[in-house]
Amino acid sequence: MKGRKIRENVYWIGAIDWDRRLFDSLIPLPDGTSYNAYLIRGSEKTALIDSVDPFFADTLMSQLEAVDTIDYVVANHAEQDHSGTIPTVLGKYPNAKVVGTPKGKNMLMDLLGVPDESFITVQDGDTLSLGDRTLEFIHTPWVHWPETMCTYLREDRILFSCDFFGSHIATTDLYATDQGRVYEAAKRYFAEIMMPFRRIIRKNLDKLKGKAVDLIAPSHGPLYPQPDFIVDAYLDWVSDEPKNIVVLPCVSMHGSTDRMVRHFVGALAEKEVTVHQFDLAVTDIGKLAITLVDAGTIVIGTPTVHVGPHPLAAYAAYLANMLRPKARFASIIGSYGWSTKVVDQIAGLIPNLKAEVLEPVLCKGYPTDADFRALDKLAETIAGKHREGGFATSTRL
Ligand code: FEO
Repeated sequence: MKGRKIRENVYWIGAIDWDRRLFDSLIPLPDGTSYNAYLIRGSEKTALIDSVDPFFADTLMSQLEAVDTIDYVVANHAEQDHSGTIPTVLGKYPNAKVVGTPKGKNMLMDLLGVPDESFITVQDGDTLSLGDRTLEFIHTPWVHWPETMCTYLREDRILFSCDFFGSHIATTDLYATDQGRVYEAAKRYFAEIMMPFRRIIRKNLDKLKGKAVDLIAPSHGPLYPQPDFIVDAYLDWVSDEPKNIVVLPCVSMHGSTDRMVRHFVGALAEKEVTVHQFDLAVTDIGKLAITLVDAGTIVIGTPTVHVGPHPLAAYAAYLANMLRPKARFASIIGSYGWSTKVVDQIAGLIPNLKAEVLEPVLCKGYPTDADFRALDKLAETIAGKHREGGFATSTRL
């Protein structure tokens, strides 16, 4: 793969990882991903923005074959999918300086053994001249680690945002032309790695408001020549306002919990509440994470196994607790055989969720008419809470 020109003397370089299906041994990547790096040739200095996953070091280095000098390697983020090839780059350009935040420097020293003398650290708002071009560094913590920053190329009004605004898509389309596809992939990425920090991200978005940006160039997925598309999406995702949505991760062993879930979904739908139901035995966890971004209520459906929740339900609860969605309400439904501590055990798994717990519905064995009435009541309570909260109808996933 050759580099591609995006502006005069500004190039996309990097690698497309068509076949990667899992990130951090956790995050499903149904559409692969890309590792975008950028080369800026100023009139006096040359800068490389980010690098690539070390698995693709050869790809990056072949794109740099005709580049005699690199003066600066800007490390917007220390995670290895962007920084992992920096040591190889420094091997070819030993005089290059690595530019990062103070926290980024420490991480790159810890993670990759980059030596102290290779660094220039930059504070928020610092600039670096390349001659006819100016790099401005904007500290944007927690997109996705605490050390992250964006780099703004002033003269071309390009924001190099690294993970921020990124999407895991392997494509030869340099720009986000299929906005529906990119929207879902970017939301998936936001949900999986940034949702827990949405209040800080809101501040980062505020900070960027003052910049005139013609192009957002993230380090995963396509670039955004219409930045408002992705910025507006982020503003929605980080807001405190949930939507009229119930997310229902569930699992069943002998059909009793499944019967409850089916009745409950019907009752909610009848009351005009949107439901996203996921069978945890087979679901794409990334899809579940996407729906948690907007959920007003999370209801976990689980049978009782050895007195506690099914392990898959425990995993979903743990994941939701880790991702800290904005949901205002939570509950549990499910069946048990002889005794259960499901409610206590799940409650213990979700201390980060600032949600009001609505009366769970647990039934012994196969659900009876009384259990279905209890589910109807829970659905009515949720619909009422959503109405009172003014939760808007969701128009897209
Ligand atoms: Fe794409 Fe946080 O790394």
